[in-house]
Amino acid sequence: MPRRQPRFDRMGDANDGVTQMEAPVFKKFLPVAASIALVASLTACGSDSGSQASAAAGNDEIVMGFAQVGAESGWRTANTKSIQESAKAAGVTLKFSDAQQKQENQIKAIRSYIQQKVDVIAFSPVVETGWDTILLEAKRAKIPVILTDRAVDSEDKTLYKTFLGSDFVLEGKKAGEWLVKDSGSAGAVNVVELQGTTGAAPAIDRKEGFAEAIKANPQIKVIASQTGDFTRSGGKQVMEAFLKSNPDIDVVYAHNDDMGLGAIEAIEAAGKVPGKDIKIITIDAVKDGMQALADGKINYIVECSPLLGDQLMDLSKKVLAGETVPERVVTEESAFDQAQAKAALPTRKY
Ligand code: AHR
Repeated sequence: MPRRQPRFDRMGDANDGVTQMEAPVFKKFLPVAASIALVASLTACGSDSGSQASAAAGNDEIVMGFAQVGAESGWRTANTKSIQESAKAAGVTLKFSDAQQKQENQIKAIRSYIQQKVDVIAFSPVVETGWDTILLEAKRAKIPVILTDRAVDSEDKTLYKTFLGSDFVLEGKKAGEWLVKDSGSAGAVNVVELQGTTGAAPAIDRKEGFAEAIKANPQIKVIASQTGDFTRSGGKQVMEAFLKSNPDIDVVYAHNDDMGLGAIEAIEAAGKVPGKDIKIITIDAVKDGMQALADGKINYIVECSPLLGDQLMDLSKKVLAGETVPERVVTEESAFDQAQAKAALPTRKY
């Protein structure tokens, strides 16, 4: 099956069960053609077309339709907040829908945004595949689409303008590399993996990156791997089952903090000590995860930043002004051990 990008160089309305919130309404965005015409006429007159063109882009009031995945995790809540706050600050009218982790809801929301003739559509795809038809509808309606957070698996790269988000493979790789280092010359290390939503880019990529990082160390074995759907309750439930069927679990690798936090509950209920009897590695670094890391219940967290709002608004303005944007914008991220979490917590934004 074709994959959307090479791994490491990857640089509505409320119909049909879709929840929607709308920011205060601003004036409608000037058509892109008008901006281009303005730039052209300024150039012809010998004016400073560069600065005046960007001023024009900055003053346009844009209507954006944003189709969010859901509210499955602390990360997602922080991401939604970032997008809503940045839209407000940038004077962008935001039509926001929550797909409750269902692809069909996202498709309905995007179709509704097309019917409403929004200026730009942004979305974080629940799963990777199955987007070509709706993206083609947006393209035919001449509405640019920006992918945020998660990628789509499509061969047609003209269906969207840019993809802003993390390198999930790298995140998984960092998690695996920490484990290799931490395990040192220890004997067998039995890992259980709590996967994100089946078919979602972060679940696929974080699994791949981790497997890649540990593959030269055959003593580290993933003995069980199952989806917890990126939720705390899912992580707890799957971990309970893992604990019943596997007496010798050394490490939990959870694709996000929430599932790791759910696993902590299951481990404690089974009379074991998280962070000691069973080590825990997660991804995200949201406040609850960082607190558990500082408290010694998690051992290592790879950061995945949800603060994509400002960059999204900026990219949207550029796209609508006819400027060239990079096809991939990768978020900068770090990672934390327990001491680093203690130091970072007081100033943590999410
Ligand atoms: O797509 C980003 C992932 O989705 C986050 O890691 C996870 O917490 C969220 O649900």
